[in-house]
Amino acid sequence: MADKIDIIIKKHLNVQRDTLLPLLQDIQTELGYLSEEAINRISVSLNLPTSKIYGVATFYDQFRFEPQGRFHIQICHGTACHINNGGRIIQEAERLLKIKEGQTTRDGMFSIEIVNCMGACGLSPVIAINDKYYHGIEPGDLKEIFEKCKDNSTAV
Ligand code: FES
Repeated sequence: MADKIDIIIKKHLNVQRDTLLPLLQDIQTELGYLSEEAINRISVSLNLPTSKIYGVATFYDQFRFEPQGRFHIQICHGTACHINNGGRIIQEAERLLKIKEGQTTRDGMFSIEIVNCMGACGLSPVIAINDKYYHGIEPGDLKEIFEKCKDNSTAV
């Protein structure tokens, strides 16, 4: 893992605080999230305090600081989904899984990401779990959907 991080950092050696974004994006693309190790290695390599790196990364919603769950749940909160109960879908998912947006359950099974329009507004509200889309769902549908994910993971 450290080698991969160092290779990416080497491509961005002239980066300063104001131009950190492409480096952070490349690391997240490679690792799936910004690990503490990655932040520390950037800090040492570029001689930037970790607080400044976290300051930049936390300013943008796109960055994660935990690995994604086995089932990564994207919940649309674009305008159409918002109007059609998107907020309640988010609340119910967070309640059922006992995590907030950007977090992963302790067992590594689920993670939640709030996204903007997923391009299916007419079928809102929309969520996606890994590559599977669920349209027109109600908050009360989530429990069963999550249980099916768990059942499928143990059946494999
Ligand atoms: S707003 Fe949710 S799919 Fe467009």
